Amino acid sequence: MRIAVIGTGYVGLVTAACLAQAGHEVLAIDRDAMRVQMLHDGQVPFYEPGLAGLVQQGVGQGRLRFETAMAAVSMAQLAFICVGTPPRPDGAADMHQLFDAARELAAWMAPDCLVVQKSTAPIGTADRVAAAVQDGLAQRGLAREQQRVRVAANPEFLREGTAVRDFGEPDRVVIGVEHVDDARLLRELYRPFVSQATQLLVMDRRSAELAKYGANSMLAARVALINELARIAQATGADIEQVRAVLGSDPRIGPQFLAAGCGYGGSCFPKDVQALGVLADCLGVDVPMLHAINGSNELHKRHLVERLSQALGGLAGRTVAIWGLSFKPETDDLREAPSRTVIDLVVERGACVQAFDPAAMQAAARVWADVPQVRLCESPMHAARDADALVLLTEWAHFREPDFAALARSLRGHLVLDGRNLWRAAQVQAAGLRYLGVGRPGSE
Ligand code: UGA
Repeated sequence: MRIAVIGTGYVGLVTAACLAQAGHEVLAIDRDAMRVQMLHDGQVPFYEPGLAGLVQQGVGQGRLRFETAMAAVSMAQLAFICVGTPPRPDGAADMHQLFDAARELAAWMAPDCLVVQKSTAPIGTADRVAAAVQDGLAQRGLAREQQRVRVAANPEFLREGTAVRDFGEPDRVVIGVEHVDDARLLRELYRPFVSQATQLLVMDRRSAELAKYGANSMLAARVALINELARIAQATGADIEQVRAVLGSDPRIGPQFLAAGCGYGGSCFPKDVQALGVLADCLGVDVPMLHAINGSNELHKRHLVERLSQALGGLAGRTVAIWGLSFKPETDDLREAPSRTVIDLVVERGACVQAFDPAAMQAAARVWADVPQVRLCESPMHAARDADALVLLTEWAHFREPDFAALARSLRGHLVLDGRNLWRAAQVQAAGLRYLGVGRPGSE
């Protein structure tokens, strides 16, 4: 098929590269000329395992092209809208880029092109995109019979760090359409990616849109709740890891997304939970649980700093080593990462930070450029040197089996706060270090 993808962020670029690899002719359009040039040269502007190779392959084989001009979209049978919907100051999704893209698309696309709305956007957005496309086609003076606007909502569920695999082996493909026959092309497109384990769910557009926000809100709530349980475990001497095993063995709950830690981050959970709450408020729907999720997560990050402060007898004048800055492993993304809150609070309370991350050092250099108290170090052991405590914030495989004896020689304060429960207390303590985990007994 001939496919256009508008927007080359995470979702757009992964979609474009994976579809090109599946043999389609893909044109990816982005307004950012520098980004387009980089991609054209096979360079991916963010760290995502496997993606650069796919982009280079697609470009090399002539199946993947990058453009800034929307005019080129006229070739497409299918056009994905994958632009950002960042939060506005009030927390609602900013829809400017999305409607700009829809209008521009309508100015150039073939009248029978299927427009596929993939950006995470409020319920009813696909209807508004359809109206914008309808207007655009009418302005081109196209005859009425040429104007059956086809817009689908096709939310994406890929995760950063495993995006290429998630696209290629999805748990489910959600296709929201107004007319069932609009689903035909998308079913055909996704057929190579759909295994027996994949659910292909065709539904109305609004349900598809709500399902995306619903999934992220449900997952965020799970993480917030397990972290609240961890704090109760902390206060009572119970072990959250044992509790997790019990909860996970209940098929109604399931074992995934039950890892207690230092709170969730990323460009999706905090933003989507908030945007859905704002949308509900606008609709006059009471959603107290939804409004509580991000607040609970914020509290959890603050609680971690409070524990550190208590264990050190205050933070003023201390040096804190941080291992892991990205919001999760296998990404360099620092958006809403727990490290942002933890480092800012630690610095606010008068401490200095020595930090290391396997992938996010460039991004970190930009984020903390004006904060002299934050020093980025070339290795985990450099970060730990002469620090009063080590705090682990991202469970990179890199940090799984450190040399604890060497760490004990470097770390002046001999205190380890494991914000991801990555290590066993005994293995850390055997090296003569104090160990604090999240919701685990005997850890202080
Ligand atoms: C999330 C969803 O998982 C994807 O399905 C969705 O497509 C994506 O948002 C999106 O809307 O684009 P992502 O933000 O990449 O994906 O990251 P997750 O793997 O979901 O992790 C989110 C956060 O929760 C991370 O900070 C992670 O450390 C934390 N987490 C996750 C926990 O603290 N405990 C867990 O058990 C699981």
